[in-house]
Amino acid sequence: MQLKGKRVVLTGASGGIGEAIVGALAEQGAHLVIIGRNQQKLAQIAHAVREMGGVCDVVVADLGTSEGIFDVQQVAHMLGHVDLLINNAGISEFEAFNVQSDDAIERLLHINLISPMKLTKQLLPYLKAAERGLIVNIGSTFGSIGYPGFTSYCASKFGLRGFNEALSRELADTNVDVCYIAPRATQTAINSQQVMAMNDALGVKTDSPLWVAEQILRAVQKDRRRVYLGWPEKFFVRMNALFPGVVANSIIKQLPIIRRYLASVPAPSIEFKSSQNIPR
Ligand SMILES: NC(=O)c1ccc[n+]([C@@H]2O[C@H](COP(=O)([O-])OP(=O)(O)OC[C@H]3O[C@@H](n4cnc5c(N)ncnc54)[C@H](OP(=O)(O)O)[C@@H]3O)[C@@H](O)[C@H]2O)c1
Repeated sequence: MQLKGKRVVLTGASGGIGEAIVGALAEQGAHLVIIGRNQQKLAQIAHAVREMGGVCDVVVADLGTSEGIFDVQQVAHMLGHVDLLINNAGISEFEAFNVQSDDAIERLLHINLISPMKLTKQLLPYLKAAERGLIVNIGSTFGSIGYPGFTSYCASKFGLRGFNEALSRELADTNVDVCYIAPRATQTAINSQQVMAMNDALGVKTDSPLWVAEQILRAVQKDRRRVYLGWPEKFFVRMNALFPGVVANSIIKQLPIIRRYLASVPAPSIEFKSSQNIPR
């Protein structure tokens, strides 16, 4: 897809990878609609795009709410059609599953899986109204490889990959294409200090958000439909699909280091609401 003048709805635009995607798309002359909750950050980003002579509309919306999804849908309605939707907003939590709160599990699945599904559904009529529509879902290496300390995050990204695959097949006879792009560890605020320190200790390679945004842009321009970023991660994704036991064995060797960093994660706060529901 060539991007000049194309109407692009981008979630997670206020984050590390999102802001870099905005810069890359603005350089190509796309008409941007950027979404997030951080109004001040979005305003700064939109200002920078307009300074470059670009077009950038801001929607301050919590995508975890129906109102947030509705607000984005309203903007799509005003535009008339959407050429490209990039589901990039996401959250992560590095925590042992047995101590993760029910709220945290629900939040991860909601923001990383349910919200992009709902937003995609609401925007589909506007993507179909474009000459050619494209949905890009930003997944993760952890959407193909289950990894300790990220159990709920992995579940959400495995789900997103499944959603992507089924939807792409369901829409195969329409003018809307669907694309899955899976970055590996990237230097953004989604990764806590503990995660960054653990990545260093394990020798995990990390990418800059600018490089990741370039790869996303390239995938869109070259009409690629499945992209896994980083070596050896893309190899391990294939290996895990064919020989999960081999990958499991190598991850199990990392477990003592992972457990050490999990132990340094601050304990979750007590949920009084849940305890109030215990019948007495
Ligand atoms: N960084 C990595 O290591 C890495 C690796 C693989 C995949 N990814 C994926 O890449 C995507 C971007 O992540 P990032 O690294 O750029 O993280 P980030 O810097 O933390 O940005 C996350 C973005 O998501 C938005 N967001 C979170 N909750 C939201 C909500 N309830 N409503 C609306 N927007 C919400 C945030 O906006 P506000 O704060 O303004 O609400 C922010 O713009 C995510 O899907 C992530 O899973 C990241």
